[in-house]
Amino acid sequence: MILYDGMEKVVRNESLVVIRNKNGGDVLAICRGGRGMNENIKTSSFSPGVAYAKTGRMPSSVKEFYTFNLEIIGVIGENGIEQNKFIIAPTSLVEMYTGGDDPMKYLCKSDLHIGHYWAEPGWKVPVLKQYINYHIGIFGVTGSGKSYLTRYEVIPLLRKAGYSVIVMDWKGSDYAPYFEPAIPLSKVKVDDSTVLRYFSQLTKNFGYLDREENPVAMAVERALRTVEWRGKTPEEAREKIYQHARLILQQNASRVKKETGMLWLDRLDSSFELITEEEVERFLGTVEPWQVLTEARSKGILVIDMSKGEKEQKLAVFYSIARYLKRLMERKQTLNIALVIDEGPQYAPWQPRGMERDTTDIIIELCALGRSYGLSVVLLSQGMAGEIGLNAAVRRNLNTQFIGRIHPLDLEEAQKLAASYYISPETLLTLPEGHFYFLGRMNPSPTPLLISFQINDDERSGFASKRQHSADGSEIEGNQRGYKQMSGPR
Ligand SMILES: Nc1ncnc2c1ncn2[C@@H]1O[C@H](COP(=O)(O)OP(=O)(O)O)[C@@H](O)[C@H]1O
Ligand SMILES: [Mg+2]
Repeated sequence: MILYDGMEKVVRNESLVVIRNKNGGDVLAICRGGRGMNENIKTSSFSPGVAYAKTGRMPSSVKEFYTFNLEIIGVIGENGIEQNKFIIAPTSLVEMYTGGDDPMKYLCKSDLHIGHYWAEPGWKVPVLKQYINYHIGIFGVTGSGKSYLTRYEVIPLLRKAGYSVIVMDWKGSDYAPYFEPAIPLSKVKVDDSTVLRYFSQLTKNFGYLDREENPVAMAVERALRTVEWRGKTPEEAREKIYQHARLILQQNASRVKKETGMLWLDRLDSSFELITEEEVERFLGTVEPWQVLTEARSKGILVIDMSKGEKEQKLAVFYSIARYLKRLMERKQTLNIALVIDEGPQYAPWQPRGMERDTTDIIIELCALGRSYGLSVVLLSQGMAGEIGLNAAVRRNLNTQFIGRIHPLDLEEAQKLAASYYISPETLLTLPEGHFYFLGRMNPSPTPLLISFQINDDERSGFASKRQHSADGSEIEGNQRGYKQMSGPR
């Protein structure tokens, strides 16, 4: 597209335009990658004079002109946007949308929206509801606005679409203060086999090789299952588990060589040096995964506040809930649940280790089942690929993506986007906070749309935040005008 004189001060990158195609149809398009050229200071080789002559108007100046690439969204049809099949005639007129004239209505008819087109707060961006359970990825460096986007736009959208939302709030500061109810990590009951997994991690498999038969693990598992240990003091609980496991091993020892039996007890004892009261205390919670689900259903949302806890414990709680959801879907139950996972790479990193392997695998399984049984997985990640990114197998399952300012380590990913959609890698590296490219299945437009969203003004000045952050990232309860949002942003 070549600009008329003066329009270079109006048309911007990512401006929305309509091409009145002389060959037929009105074609919606986005301006991407503008260039100013001046023949005196030597630029490209074509001369735009002819194009201007045909329209009977003058180019912007004799020697200087401005151009934009147009990224086609599609032709405006009766029921939304359709693929444009006509060649666009070279002298067709291009008009830019501004203000009250909202082109979003052409994209699709939907009562669900996410944020607004970056240039105009009034242009709510429609989304295709049927793809919500094809899962969502939100990417951007720390501070790019991922958690805000989720809090202000994605969660309200999910709820409006009929999903009950379970949020895994890794830091406990992004969601827990703003939604009710929020339950702390330690209240959630972790199922026995996940507790065993955790203890195995902790004790290096109770001293056994991975594939070896493991009588000690079996005894501890039996003990976890048979003894009433939850709801007790950590000291009591630990002692009960230990004594029962010991009893089982002693009974079994009668059937093997004496040394073997001794070795078992030895390994049990040294394992329990690591399974301290503190470790047992992590798992004394009694809120069962089904209660988490019921609560989420009745309130519309439930936040798991994971601020206090070791990483492996956080993963164990997540795993426990995820396993329950998986079991329900395997029994062919439709869930209508969205699982929002902030800090995604903590659960499904590039190269998972230890418990991360279990959580990565289960996320993949949830994604696969979720498409049939109404579970939407929403993952937030500061990186897309490689070391800072999400596990590749998980990422393949996220069919809708929001991409904010990316990390320089993700430049390669950005270049792939650039190749497909003319979005320059520099643009992605420098996007302002709260700006995201929206692409994939939920987007009615085949080309990414740059969206943003509004936050309330208190928040912008940091005034309403009821917590302060100290330099080491830990939090101090502040005494400010704290508020609690019951559902979504005010
Ligand atoms: N739409 C927005 N408008 C203005 N500021 C925003 C917007 N979204 C986010 N921010 C600012 O960016 C900061 C970081 O956002 P946050 O969601 O915590 O980032 P991330 O989760 O990606 O690390 C917020 O504290 C807020 O001040
Ligand atoms: Mg965040």
